[in-house]
Amino acid sequence: MADHSGTSDSPYAGLLRAALTDLLLTRGAIQDQRVADAFRTVPRHLFVPQVPVELAYTDDVVLMKRDQSGVAISSVSQPTVVAVMLEQADIQPGHRVLEIGSGGYNAALLSELVSPAGAVTTIDIDEDVTARAWRGLDAAGYPNVRVQRADGEFGWPGGAPYDRIIVTVTAWDIAPAWLEQLAPGGRIVVPLRMRSQTRSTAFDLCDGFLESRSMAVCGFVAMQGAGAGYERSVPLRGELVSLTFDEDQGDQPVPPARVLEQKIATAWSGVLMNREEPLCDLDLWLASTLPGFCLLVAEPRAVKKKLVSPAPRWGASAIASDTSLGYLTARAAADPDFVELGAIAHGPDAPRLARSLVDQVCKWDQKHRGGSGPQLRIYPADLPKAELPVGFQLRKRHHQLVLSWPE
Ligand SMILES: C[S@@+](CC[C@H](N)C(=O)[O-])C[C@H]1O[C@@H](n2cnc3c(N)ncnc32)[C@H](O)[C@@H]1O
Repeated sequence: MADHSGTSDSPYAGLLRAALTDLLLTRGAIQDQRVADAFRTVPRHLFVPQVPVELAYTDDVVLMKRDQSGVAISSVSQPTVVAVMLEQADIQPGHRVLEIGSGGYNAALLSELVSPAGAVTTIDIDEDVTARAWRGLDAAGYPNVRVQRADGEFGWPGGAPYDRIIVTVTAWDIAPAWLEQLAPGGRIVVPLRMRSQTRSTAFDLCDGFLESRSMAVCGFVAMQGAGAGYERSVPLRGELVSLTFDEDQGDQPVPPARVLEQKIATAWSGVLMNREEPLCDLDLWLASTLPGFCLLVAEPRAVKKKLVSPAPRWGASAIASDTSLGYLTARAAADPDFVELGAIAHGPDAPRLARSLVDQVCKWDQKHRGGSGPQLRIYPADLPKAELPVGFQLRKRHHQLVLSWPE
């Protein structure tokens, strides 16, 4: 447990911290009393000194750095996401933990959870970030956390083996070094990107492969360095509407740039969704069942001009062929709290694409909606396909991922 006697904590900050912790408990992001105690203890405002103390204790991400083109590359993560990942990691006293992607705050929480005997190492690729993390940890009274500048793709062998590896930056694959540095029975928690969708996934090591224990939707800045993944954006109608393909979809056909001006087909599913209900599980289901899957992203202007009507506009599930495009849409239902899901498609193959999207929406609704969600297993890249279990297979650089949907 850290000694905060010499820090610039205050009773007011303590009250704000307690309120934030209560909020996270109420929302179910925190379930373990030890995680709640850590949140009540670690002074988050000392890790984000540039914002007012009230902002430090709202449930928001604090953006810390952008690259030259304005893209966010470092932040202090949203407390809800931090809490969910700590719950997924199930950190115990005495654990040795590696955090990839620093900022200091999460490392301090980890330090609370492993104390008195464990060890926390946090690494970041960016020298500004490690310097900032170190200052925050020092100010908050956590000098025992080891802060190193390193590319997370290679882990940090100096502190291995680790009982837990927590990655707090979006990864496209599981780096081989993480497996090498994980202790027997260890767990990796990582925001993993699959078909442009990111899930914080907790993996346990079982018989030489990794098996998921839980998944949670999240958003993180993208990994830099040797493990960086790439997405391809294909513009339609200038930059107003675009299609996003993931790195492993390099050879996927794309429709012509003027496809949205072509023949249109619409199909409705009869599946109703509460307006507040997230589409995340459905999106992953569609990604794993529809050949030609991609994401359709639309500027607000494109929706206003009625060029497209995607649900949701910041990334609607879509399917593309070399002639046609279909995407998920929604219309108001009789009950104002609900919408009905459907599909809009353009191009010569529009009726078939709209139908296949809607068929999969119905299948998900009947078999998987509200269920335990998908399971993910990770195998070495050189394992013959015939030895992989049944499921949706994704080939990454170092590993093959198999996503299955228990009914
Ligand atoms: C969301 S921030 C981490 C937040 C932090 N865990 C906290 O306590 O709030 C993600 C960090 O990952 C770092 N990063 C990106 N690529 C990396 C890599 N290959 N290795 C290590 N760190 C990396 C970025 O510099 C950034 O600071």
